[in-house]
This record gives sequence, structure tokens and C-alpha cells, in this order.
Amino acid sequence: MTRPHIEPFVDREVDFKKMTLPGFPIGMHYKMLSLNPESGACTMTVQYEAGYNQTPTVCYSDVELMIMEGGLKVGDQLCGPGYYFFVPKGVSLPAISSEKGALCLLMYNDSEPHLIESDQDLEGAAQEDFIKVQSYEDMPWQVPTLFPQTASGCLLKVLRFDPKTHAMTFLYSMTPGFQQDNISYHDCAEEAYHIWGTSWMMQFGDLPTGGYFWRPPYINHGAFYSENGILGFGRTDGQLHNYFHWNPYSTPEENADRAAAQLTRQKPELHKWIIATDHNHIHFNDFEYPEDGYDHAHVDGQGKVRNHKHK
Ligand SMILES: [Fe+2]
Repeated sequence: MTRPHIEPFVDREVDFKKMTLPGFPIGMHYKMLSLNPESGACTMTVQYEAGYNQTPTVCYSDVELMIMEGGLKVGDQLCGPGYYFFVPKGVSLPAISSEKGALCLLMYNDSEPHLIESDQDLEGAAQEDFIKVQSYEDMPWQVPTLFPQTASGCLLKVLRFDPKTHAMTFLYSMTPGFQQDNISYHDCAEEAYHIWGTSWMMQFGDLPTGGYFWRPPYINHGAFYSENGILGFGRTDGQLHNYFHWNPYSTPEENADRAAAQLTRQKPELHKWIIATDHNHIHFNDFEYPEDGYDHAHVDGQGKVRNHKHK
């Protein structure tokens, strides 16, 4: 179960709530941006009050934190806007305090929000995966090397890349006047928050500062435009492959079919292997090349794949 599609959502239009879950000190307020109702995994905008104090803690969930305004003292270090943390499950986070308050994004990736007082790592914690970076000052903007490429004027800073799943956490910027006139979708869920600025999208209109979405796979998005540019924070839960096209009416099912058709064309042996070992029946209709018809495969009694087409 993933999270439901939430788009567009603007956190400036809702009030903060007091965080009252066990383990959290007073002085933390949140706006829920998205939530997995089964696991409790979530993304929140969080306001820490001036004077907030949190002892060293561990979590049974990977946690990500992005400081947007104000500052937090984490251990001995004062961390202002731009600081990003990835805290793997079981890794102890030093004491946190805030003299003047802080506005952050806080993400629990595996479970509902919780804090357990501990200055020791749990057994097996992947300390080597811990990330702390001043993303505004210590990382250069990159032109994305993803292929197919986004239009000129969309820049990236990759904060975290999971080599196993290719899931990413990143900052992105649309430069003033950025425009991209085609339509995108991906095989992964995509999440974004506007730290600053407004961009327009054909399907969902203007997304201003504080704007947010959690978008499941295969949902059309774009064309895009941004008059003054934006600074955004984004994440995916898998490889961000840009499927571009020009059909604003295609459904997520049709988009997934087209992605499967591309897999068959580009990696035919892998496609055969998947259907021969895991399923005995698959078909799809690629709206981009409808003349190809339905590619339809069966696995016979000897385990051989028998392809035929339906027009
Ligand atoms: Fe996208």
C-alpha cells in the first residue's frame, strides 16, 4: 500500500496541530502532508517552537529532515536553512534544540512518527548511511543527466540516492521562465514540496510556496511553466525515468501499458523471462503505437513462451 494521490495541496491553507504522540516533547507542531494509512509513514511540515528541547533519540524508521527556516542545534552544531539529514532506522540522533524556532520538513519512511530516548544506536543500525549536508551552501546545482531529459532550466541537487532501489531525495530548481511543453509520467511515486516559488502545471494549476503533492506512479503531469522560478524539495520511491508523450487524456493504466511496451521493445529477453517465470499471461496495448496491437503471451506446458498478437 502506498499513499493516496494528494495534488495539489497547499500547507499555508491549513493550521498547525500540536504533536501529542508519546515521546515527543512539547513545542512541536505539524501539518500532515501525506500519510500511508497502513504503516503510518508520512511527510509533515513541522514548526519547532523557540525553546524546543529534545533529548538524544532513536527511531524504528528511516527519518529525513530538511530545515527551511530558522535553525536547530543538532548535537553541538547550529544548523540553519538548507540542512538536510537522513537518519537510518536505529541510528541515534543527538539532542536537538531551537533557540528561535525552526520550520522543517520531517519524514518518517517506515512507520508512524515516534521518538525513543537513547544516545546509543540500535543493533544493526546502518550508521554508514547517515547523511548530514548543508545543501544550499555545500552542493552545486547539476544539470540532470537523466534520459530522456527534462527541458533546459530544471536543475538538481541529489541529497540521497539509494543504490538498491534508485529512490532519490533531491532539491530541484526551475529557473525563471522555465517551460516544458510535453507530458511526463514515471514508474515510481513522486513527492514534492515548494520551499519557495510558484509553478504551473496543466493538470493541477498553480502550485505556490508551501505547495505539495504525493503522486503515485503513471499519473500524467505537465506541461509546466514557472514565471519567477521555484526551489523545491522532492523524493521518489524508485527510479525516476521520464516517460514523455503528448496525450493529455491517457489514463494511468494506459501509461503503464505503454511503459510495459517500451520494456518489451528495449529489453525483450527480460520481458520474456518475467512472464515465463512469474506469470503465464500478459497483454498490453500501447497507445503510442496502437498498430502493434495487443502483445499477448502464454507459457505452455513445457515452460516455453508463446507470443501472439490481437489486433
Ligand atoms: Fe515528474
